Amino acid sequence: MKTENTVEGKMEKIVSLCKRRGFIFQGSEIYGGLAGTFDYGPYGVTLKNNIKRLWWKRFVEDREDMYGVDAAILMNPKVWEASGHVAGFADPLVEDLKTHKRYRADHLLEDAGVDTKGMKATEMDALIKEKKIKSPEGNPLGEVRQFNMMFKTQIGATEDPTAVSYLRPETAGGIFVNYKNVLDSLHPKLPFGIAQIGKAFRNEIAPRDFIFRLRELEQMEIEFFVNPKEWEKWFAHFQAQVHEWTRDIGLADSHVHELEIAPADLAHYSKRTIDFEFDYPFGKKELYGLAYRTDFDLSAHTKSSRVDLSYFDEETKERLTPHVIEPSFGVDRTLLAILSDAYTEDTLGGETRTFLKLAPAVAPVRVAVFPLLKNKPELVAKAREVYAMLKKAIPNVEFDDNGNIGKRYRRQDEIGTPFCVTVDFETIEQGTGVALRDRDTGAQKRVKIEDLVSLVS
Ligand code: GAP
Repeated sequence: MKTENTVEGKMEKIVSLCKRRGFIFQGSEIYGGLAGTFDYGPYGVTLKNNIKRLWWKRFVEDREDMYGVDAAILMNPKVWEASGHVAGFADPLVEDLKTHKRYRADHLLEDAGVDTKGMKATEMDALIKEKKIKSPEGNPLGEVRQFNMMFKTQIGATEDPTAVSYLRPETAGGIFVNYKNVLDSLHPKLPFGIAQIGKAFRNEIAPRDFIFRLRELEQMEIEFFVNPKEWEKWFAHFQAQVHEWTRDIGLADSHVHELEIAPADLAHYSKRTIDFEFDYPFGKKELYGLAYRTDFDLSAHTKSSRVDLSYFDEETKERLTPHVIEPSFGVDRTLLAILSDAYTEDTLGGETRTFLKLAPAVAPVRVAVFPLLKNKPELVAKAREVYAMLKKAIPNVEFDDNGNIGKRYRRQDEIGTPFCVTVDFETIEQGTGVALRDRDTGAQKRVKIEDLVSLVS
């Protein structure tokens, strides 16, 4: 689907910028890569950490009803049996009978203009046959079957089936198994939430679109435990919070859309889900999810573990199993949405330039400090002094004396640095402060050194 954000070649340009400027690299690149994995470079990891830090502040630190955890990725396999993932965390797979390459059946049907919402594997199979759909290489396709996306691994030295475990497919599992620990140690009252940021793993049949569909991904998730009578109120609360969050990180409101998931398409644990979609350069696709998971998980874990996960309300003297509202945010998809909205090309001083219009709160470098000339010790010394002063107050400050000033501006524009500070001869000889340049307009003004921290913070 073409969207407002679809600019010719924009995605390729973003991928190229990410590699050229040290944001994101193909995983295991020197060995030819590993599909569905990417490595974050120096600017990428800072951007990612800024996203996670802002999320943690908004959803955990700034609230009184949220508790953070950091659970193990490897879990007892019974967790995933109880949660329904062993039986049902699957995508429809179809194989090219000649090359044996595997594809998502729903993706091939969608590419052929078929809406697969709510469709079972058998229905997709029948449609592929009826419409004579072939693989992208033009070969016949086999039967559509369900493929479980969890990565299996072996725990310990024995290689028998009882030693099988899984890499977690969602961080939510680590939250549910710690619900009782948080309840027993911190005694929160309903409603309260548990939040976690961490890696999750999915053996996607067709990883694609750069960091959009990965096999190793990162999630920021909340399981918010409520009295079942209040689930609608809290669902609406987090629905609004998602929009506030996308504004925090600088995404355009007009690029974020809500999609009410049809009952037939709901995940096995959900009674209501809204997907938040974003206008990526390759189309409108899922950015986040908000699900009403009912008491599905706590009841399933109570039954499977035989540990009572009910809650006693001291005020009403009622014993109940809390229901859950789950806002789930992919870190990598957030980062890609930020890059998509920030990527800009314009003309400045008669020259075409590329820049990332990043919100200052997420930019990997907040301010860069330059001496006008690298070979003038007095300029370098003063610039170092200004740099040290700023670095004390702001963590993401960079000192740059490579190449000429024009080159430095271009490099800082491309990595999205909102402000550049130049120490020049006027600074030294006339004491008139420094030149402060604004990334978006390229405009420069003279400012006092002592005002810099407040101007760029
Ligand atoms: N606990 C609920 C859950 O995991 P989900 O819709 O499967 O729900 C939540 O995933 C979010 O995780 C998605 O909205 C997306 O941001 C991110 N995500 C899911 N699969 C992904 C993948 N293969 N690559 C990158 N991000 C992914």
